[in-house]
Amino acid sequence: EDREAARAHAEACLAREDGAVVIEDYLDGPEVSLFCVSDGVTVIPLVPAQDFKRAHDGNEGPNTGGMGAYSPLPWLAEGVVEEVVTTVAKPTVDEMARRGTPFVGLLYCGLAMTSKGIRVVEFNVRFGDPETQAVLERLDSPLAELLFAAATGALDRIPAPRWSKDAAVTVVMASGGYPGPTDTGHEITGIDEAEALDGVHIIHAGTGTRIADDPADAAAGCCGFEPAEILINTGGRVLDVVGRGPDVAAARAKAYEGVALISFAGEHHRSDIATWPAGLDAKN
Ligand code: GLY
Repeated sequence: EDREAARAHAEACLAREDGAVVIEDYLDGPEVSLFCVSDGVTVIPLVPAQDFKRAHDGNEGPNTGGMGAYSPLPWLAEGVVEEVVTTVAKPTVDEMARRGTPFVGLLYCGLAMTSKGIRVVEFNVRFGDPETQAVLERLDSPLAELLFAAATGALDRIPAPRWSKDAAVTVVMASGGYPGPTDTGHEITGIDEAEALDGVHIIHAGTGTRIADDPADAAAGCCGFEPAEILINTGGRVLDVVGRGPDVAAARAKAYEGVALISFAGEHHRSDIATWPAGLDAKN
């Protein structure tokens, strides 16, 4: 955050045996993920989303794969998507083609909206998790049509993807210990109740099943003959609870209504997904 912190970090790096330091620009603005589908020539952007990478509220704690995401981004300036396509995604795809290695697939542009303009933090060549859960919730036209057109060089010949005006918010429920060594194997309850809520659905990530330990539960298996299987957490990020509503606040409320119904031992999640720092032009 400041020169002294940067200097202290650099000195700590250099103090190591064979220590080295990479000096990079400090990027002072919020991050945005923009996924672009490419057939090697044509680039079609999906809607932008924002990921919450730190483990704890207030962007504290260790970095994770992502603890939640939302879309749309009401504070994002008009024209940013077009600017990213024109100045970042399309030139990248054009250069790949020029080098004889055309890129066909999903170009994930990880961006920072800094006071000096848009900066690329990273590219990935895959969908992002958990941004995709919020982005695809808003896609009204078929995803397969878009992907098939990308795979067959036909992105310039299909209708533009259609997007819902609704907002979507994804909250990740993680295992105890995540992003470090995780505490797994615990029964997960409440998923059916959460799924029954209007505007809420659950996506499984780190789940599996095991036979119930308790003979009373086992006896409750199908038709009285099968031992009962119970749902357990098996990985770091366990469930994505996706909420949908007419604006971000409504979608966030739905997602957290779902989260409140689900539990497993050691579970943790952030309670500030889809809120944004003061100073951004939040309209929701
Ligand atoms: N959410 C960050 C990633 O998918 O890399």
